[in-house]
Amino acid sequence: MIEAVKEIALAAGEILMEKLLTGVSVQAKGSIDLVTDADQASEAFVVRELRKRFPEHGILAEEGARREGAGEYLWVIDPLDGTTNFAHGFPYFCVSIGLVQGDETVLAVVYDPVRRECFAAEKGSGAYLNGRRLTVSKTDTVHRSLLATGFPYDIATTSRNNLEAFSRVNKASQGVRSLGAAALDLCQVAAGRLDAFWELSLRPWDLAAGSLMVQEAQGTVTGCAGEKFSPLGHDVCASNGFIHEELLQLIKL
Ligand code: IPD
Ligand code: CA
Ligand code: CA
Repeated sequence: MIEAVKEIALAAGEILMEKLLTGVSVQAKGSIDLVTDADQASEAFVVRELRKRFPEHGILAEEGARREGAGEYLWVIDPLDGTTNFAHGFPYFCVSIGLVQGDETVLAVVYDPVRRECFAAEKGSGAYLNGRRLTVSKTDTVHRSLLATGFPYDIATTSRNNLEAFSRVNKASQGVRSLGAAALDLCQVAAGRLDAFWELSLRPWDLAAGSLMVQEAQGTVTGCAGEKFSPLGHDVCASNGFIHEELLQLIKL
């Protein structure tokens, strides 16, 4: 199954790259929340291919595709995570596909078409980058860590804007990046390139695949107050495990 999903993610990534080279048409969803024809073309392709292969399974995709599944499995899809980056030509975005069973992701593929990096994981079988097994970093203090976070589209109006936590962690660490593609940020934690990532108010398609990647690379994934993580929830704190408690204390709302 995972090979089929990798093939789909790679082909969707090619659709994104093609659109990037030939010109993107951008529309506004909200005041700073964008959608492009590439989001829609990638989603149409991924959903069509998954339906063809797994007709019994449910579908939940960011740009609107929904299908009640006959069984217990739900494909959770972000056809383009990092739309704002993509619309500006900033080369950091991905295709994210997770398979959720109950309240757990059991299979995940995240593809970064710019770097041609395909992250893949199955529950209980480890996380891989282009076939190479991944493990999280070993950094054991926030002081020596490089981290990433993100901010919600309603940053100007919500009190859950993450700005105070960002400031605290930034002062306490070697740096906090805001890269703009949550699913890919989670994969960077799995690859040991970042020591942790946290963000509030995300959606299942941002979280489902990347969170399994961190868990299968032996990292720790919880909510931002240390609560049990759900791929169908909103908040995530994903780390190498060693700095988890220290980070949770710093980001406490
Ligand atoms: C967004 C990105 C971004 C995060 C936003 C997400 P999109 O997804 O993951 O990093 O900060 O909260 O909505 O809209 O580019 O698919
Ligand atoms: Ca997203
Ligand atoms: Ca998206």
